[in-house]
Amino acid sequence: MYGALKPLLFRVDPERTHGWALSYLSMVQRSGWLRGSIARRRPDPNPRLSVSAMGIQFPAPLGLAAGFDKDAEAHNALLAHGFGHVEVGTVTPEPQDGNPRPRVQRFPDHRALVNWLGFPNDGQQTVADRLEEHPPEGVVGVNVGPNKDSTGEAALADYEDAAARLARYAAYLTVNVSSPNTPGLRSLQEPEQVAELVARVLDALDEAGHPRPVLLKIHPDAGGAETRQAAEVAVDAGASGIVAVNTTSEKPEGLGDPDQGGLSGSPLSGRATQVVEQVYEAVGEEVPIVGVGGVETGEDALDKIRHGATLVQAYTGFVFRGPRFPGLVHEEMLATMDDLGVDHVTDLVGEAVDGD
Ligand SMILES: Cc1cc2nc3c(=O)[nH]c(=O)nc-3n(C[C@H](O)[C@H](O)[C@H](O)COP(=O)(O)O)c2cc1C
Repeated sequence: MYGALKPLLFRVDPERTHGWALSYLSMVQRSGWLRGSIARRRPDPNPRLSVSAMGIQFPAPLGLAAGFDKDAEAHNALLAHGFGHVEVGTVTPEPQDGNPRPRVQRFPDHRALVNWLGFPNDGQQTVADRLEEHPPEGVVGVNVGPNKDSTGEAALADYEDAAARLARYAAYLTVNVSSPNTPGLRSLQEPEQVAELVARVLDALDEAGHPRPVLLKIHPDAGGAETRQAAEVAVDAGASGIVAVNTTSEKPEGLGDPDQGGLSGSPLSGRATQVVEQVYEAVGEEVPIVGVGGVETGEDALDKIRHGATLVQAYTGFVFRGPRFPGLVHEEMLATMDDLGVDHVTDLVGEAVDGD
């Protein structure tokens, strides 16, 4: 069905298509009957793929990356489609429009997207109301960030505010310092800033009475030493995991405007895996890594895992493969594990690095 519709859908502005997908998914979200019938049409989660990390039981390794369901309109529908977890957000304290449209480009020949959305979202109160109305029926994390006009101290306060407001609904919180589309945001990935940010968000969660694992989401455009240091400092400050990576602002020629937007999908894959490996070397013995960037097949997911990821996420692969994407990836993972004679997916974590 998606295969037949795709040529038509791909003629329309990507954000418009995304809006249609969300309308369908939010209808599914509101109907227990539809969710049940979708969930029944896919295989039950296979225990060989279940992952326990950060005190959370994930039924399967592949989750939906932040940015697809920014406003918690569809988390339960997306879980019904077979994602092992869904990361809602990025949510900021106040609602904001983001950059003027158009602000997403599709590159089907490269299996890639470029976006410069700038965190459009409904704000923490509306997202909290939706999560209250539709309590997560699986693992839902919430990714938080600052409003566009908040800089310096105000930006740090925004993270605390959004995290504390949304924690009660979330299995974990992700602190996003890595989008290329909010000016100044990536400077928060510098070590002193990371330490303060993680510690303050953890304190804010404690004060709110909802302690939760906090993950730091990093970008792929720093050097290896800088990346390792950011991960170490975050973990020392109490982070429970690292999400690696966000989109890259280093785009090959022909893929979008060199000065604007972040590239995701297949062309990001190799770089993302390299960052996963760097983070694994730095903190892999202490915390789990969520590998993101160009995961489109089971093979891609296993590659991230073999380089140190415990869990994986994807966004762009879902756009290109459609609603059956999570089920297909998990089936492909199991088939490859059979070929390799591997019993459980976690047996492969870091294998390509540890074996060097
Ligand atoms: C249209 C679009 C919007 C995104 N919005 C967010 C966001 O709000 N917050 C965030 O942390 N990452 C966001 N991302 C980044 C993804 O979560 C992911 O890190 C990145 O796309 C790499 O994964 P992929 O290659 O599987 O897409 C967005 C990505 C895309 C394509």
